[in-house]
Amino acid sequence: FNFFDYNTYLKTSEYLKNKLPTNLQSVEVGIICGSGLGGLAQTLTNQVEFKYEDIPNFAVSTVQGHAGKLVFGLLSGKVAVCMVGRFHLYEGHALLRTVFPVRIMKLLGCHTLLVTNAAGGLNPKFNVGDIMVIEDHLSMTGFGGQNALIGPNIPEFGTRFPPVSDAYDENLRVVVFKAAKEVGISYDIMREGVYTFVAGPSFESRAEARFLRLSGADAVGMSTVPEVIVARHCGMRVLGLSLITNRVGQGFGQNSREIAENKIEESIADIKLDSTLIASHAEVLETSLIRSEAMQGLVKKIIELM
Ligand code: 6GU
Repeated sequence: FNFFDYNTYLKTSEYLKNKLPTNLQSVEVGIICGSGLGGLAQTLTNQVEFKYEDIPNFAVSTVQGHAGKLVFGLLSGKVAVCMVGRFHLYEGHALLRTVFPVRIMKLLGCHTLLVTNAAGGLNPKFNVGDIMVIEDHLSMTGFGGQNALIGPNIPEFGTRFPPVSDAYDENLRVVVFKAAKEVGISYDIMREGVYTFVAGPSFESRAEARFLRLSGADAVGMSTVPEVIVARHCGMRVLGLSLITNRVGQGFGQNSREIAENKIEESIADIKLDSTLIASHAEVLETSLIRSEAMQGLVKKIIELM
């Protein structure tokens, strides 16, 4: 796989522009719909959609719960484009491929990117079903040498060394809380915190979960950060929302000897993990379905207020 040059991005954005009706040609807001949150796209009016497989240079997403299409339309009176289904590093795509659609959004006129995801809750105060406004991030793959901006810089998009210390727009984060109040979502389920990006596809071990929590993370997931970095690189305003779909277990299990010596009962030993703390994709999808209507209403109001 070679790096994309600027022309490749232009060709894809022109392809889409040429097929869009004039009222949808200048897009304002890009929305990336996370696991099970694709229902939002159905709420757009004047819809025009493109399957990823029909768009030149797009990858094709392979995950269950993630369809693969771009949906253009009007949301709260603004022209928006939704990615229903996104690309992940764990699918085997190079990071640069996973973020390709973000640059296309930029070329189509988007000044704002709204990213949603399903995430595991590391903060012990968080409950399943909570909505976390992303305030900052940790890129575990970045530390390990995988960043979506690795490769020749494309100056038409941005500078070689972009800052990301202000990645998550403060005004937009305030708007989320105002929007939640207006649509009647209780502040009891609204959180703000740090999202950590890991490659996946395996969920965290208990030791990894402890490590991530100690490193300052509130939630963990397998997406979003690459898209955010690329969006900031090209000057888009960014808002990120994580739906906490499951708790991430942090238990210890170092008591096998005590069990062997009958010093503690196996039934009360930590080694018997609480089964509700074992992550599963089914649980992730279940929770996102439970909150899909609330998330849709929230996003709609955010777009209206921003
Ligand atoms: Cl528990 N871990 C990761 N890495 N991603 C998730 C998740 C957990 N729950 C939803 N997405």
